Order: sequence, then C-alpha cells, then structure tokens
Amino acid sequence: MQNWGTGLAITGSGSAAPGVSLSNAELSQWLETSDEWISTRTGIQARRLASAPESLVTLATAAAQQALAMANLDPTELDLIVLATSTPDDLFGSACQVQAALGAKQAVAFDMTAACSGFVFGLVTAAQFMRMGVYRNVLLIGADVLSRWVDWRDRRTCILFGDGAGAVVLQAHEADQLLGFALQSDGSQNSCLNLAYQGQETPLTAEISVDQGRFTPITMNGQEVYRFAVRRVPEIIEKALFHAGLTTADIDWLLLHQANQRILDAVAQRLSVPAEKVISNLAQFGNTSAASIPLALDAEVRQNRIQVGDCIAIAGFGAGLSWGAALFRWGR
Ligand code: UT7
Repeated sequence: MQNWGTGLAITGSGSAAPGVSLSNAELSQWLETSDEWISTRTGIQARRLASAPESLVTLATAAAQQALAMANLDPTELDLIVLATSTPDDLFGSACQVQAALGAKQAVAFDMTAACSGFVFGLVTAAQFMRMGVYRNVLLIGADVLSRWVDWRDRRTCILFGDGAGAVVLQAHEADQLLGFALQSDGSQNSCLNLAYQGQETPLTAEISVDQGRFTPITMNGQEVYRFAVRRVPEIIEKALFHAGLTTADIDWLLLHQANQRILDAVAQRLSVPAEKVISNLAQFGNTSAASIPLALDAEVRQNRIQVGDCIAIAGFGAGLSWGAALFRWGR
C-alpha cells in the first residue's frame, strides 16, 4: 500500500449555483409571508433554484472543475472524490456520475450523507485517508438541491432553502494545514429536522406485501434547531480550537453553515469574533445545506479576501442532529 504519511493542504476551491434566483418578494406572490419577515428573521433575500438540465451532478461537476483548475490538478490525478449531499440525483449515490463527468478515471468516488454538516464531516473523512498516506489528491464536494424536497406551501421551511455546490481540492502536504476538528451527533433529537421516508404497504400476494412509500418534504422545528445551533456550535468550535492548541483570537475567518444570519451573529458574539471576520452569503443564496460552506469559501477566495495562511474556522450543523467544526489554514 502507498504510504506518504503526511498532512494535507487545501489548494483550490470552486462553486456553482443555478441560474434562476427567487426573491423574497416573488415568494410572497403565493405564500403568506413578506420580504420584511424573511429578511429580518433570517438575513435571506433570495435563493437559487435548480431546473433541468441543471441537476445535483451538473452543479457538483461545475464546482469541482473550478476547484481543480485553481489547484492546477488534472482530474486523472485524483485518488478520491467525496460528495457530501443529502439530495443525490440517484439514491444509490451521485459521486460516480461526477467522477465520470470529470474524467477522473483513477478516483474512487462515494457519497456521504450528513445533511448540513456534510462538508465538515466530509473534510474530516477525507483527511483520514490522506493522513494514513492512502490517498494524495482528493476532491471534496458539498452540493444540495433542497428545492426538490421542500413543501413550497410551507412558509416555515421553504423560505430558507436554496440550491448550489461548492468544492475544494485537498492535496498531500508535509505541514498539515488541517489544524483541528471535532464532530458530534445526537440522534435523540432526530425528529427536529427530517426529510423522511413514509412507508406505504403494497400487497404483492394475499400473504406478502412490501413497503413502497415515498420521501415526504422537509419538516423542521425551527425554534429547537435554532436553540441547538446557538448552544452547540460555539462549543464545538471551542473543542476544535482546543485540539489545535489555538484560541478564538487565532481565527481569521469564521465560516459557519449558512442557516440564519441571527445564528451567525449569535455564535460570533459568544466566541467574541468580530463581525468583519464572519463570512456570510445568506442574502443571495439562503441555506444550501452541504454546499453552503464551500460556496461561501470560494467567493471569499476569488475576491482575494481570504489569503494563503489565513486560519479559517468552519462549522456545520443540522439534521441528525449532527454538528462539527474544523480549523484549517488556506492554501499551502
Ligand atoms: O440547515 C439546518 C439548520 N436549520 C436552521 O438552523 C434553522 C433554525 N431556525 C431558524 O432559523 C428560525 O427558527 C426560523 C427562521 C425557521 C423561524 O424564525 P423564528 O424567529 O424562530 O420564528 P417562529 O417559528 O417562532 O415564528 C414566529 C411567527 C409565527 O407566528 P405566530 O405563531 O407568532 O403568530 C409563525 O407562524 O412567525 C410566523 N412565521 C412566518 N411569518 C411570515 C413563520 N414563518 C413565516 C414566514 N413569513 N415565512
């Protein structure tokens, strides 16, 4: 077995969002809501919606191509593709379709489901393969098309979500730029946020029946999830900082899963991170689940706001319930 026994660096990023943007005012045309309510309660002003021929695979592939170009890495050099998503085009997984679309012939590819924590969980998963020396060049994608799965008549949920994809390239690097992480799950609170299968008994013979149901739209106890996020996210970031031997003063950028501007503000306040270090793209994209962190990261990198060596604290949280944080330095 290959063994490079090494660390990793994040050497490229990319992102893709559907062409169609839906504003709060447009939502108010069929929903009993208002731009004022949505903006003040969430910070969201618009969200992108995927429509054919756009799909989870096309968005993920476009983001991945950009990330590979930035890293100056040919797809054939990839060893592993991890696709963090809860909304694959195919329940068997969509990562292999992305692999084929990229022409990443040597790469093993698989999907990872951890809802809005998917990108953080995916980063930590990929890092283990790299630190063991098994894989050198890894593509991590966070992508979701939740617009397929929300009830567009449920104003408590549909106003929040949008579609998109973000990707990063991870490469073997002697000085490990992943400084620390912490992950957690609490399935006892699973009912707070679901995109659940609902069974339906379908008889095959007089004695035998099978369960042929369907997935039902997203349900969420918003207040519970809000409380969970504001309490658990600062905790998990502190834990990751402790593992890294760092303090909040070392954070150059705080990049949280983009769920609600009020959550971003409350977490930053609890950690005493000043507002100018908090990254937010909520206004234009809403909550894009596993895509939200790499989508926002890529925009900051491309605007040269994030510089090589900057220390970035990321945290994902959501369905599971699951939550996690990671600290890394950008670039080699
Ligand atoms: O990615 C996964 C992580 N998800 C999250 O982090 C979501 C966390 N939760 C939240 O962000 C917030 O709880 C929401 C934005 C979902 C809701 O905000 P809230 O301040 O917790 O509102 P609420 O649920 O307490 O509702 C307040 C009122 C209610 O009316 P009454 O009962 O006070 O008369 C709702 O019916 O606002 C009403 N309401 C709305 N009104 C206009 C709920 N949704 C809407 C709406 N437009 N879209």
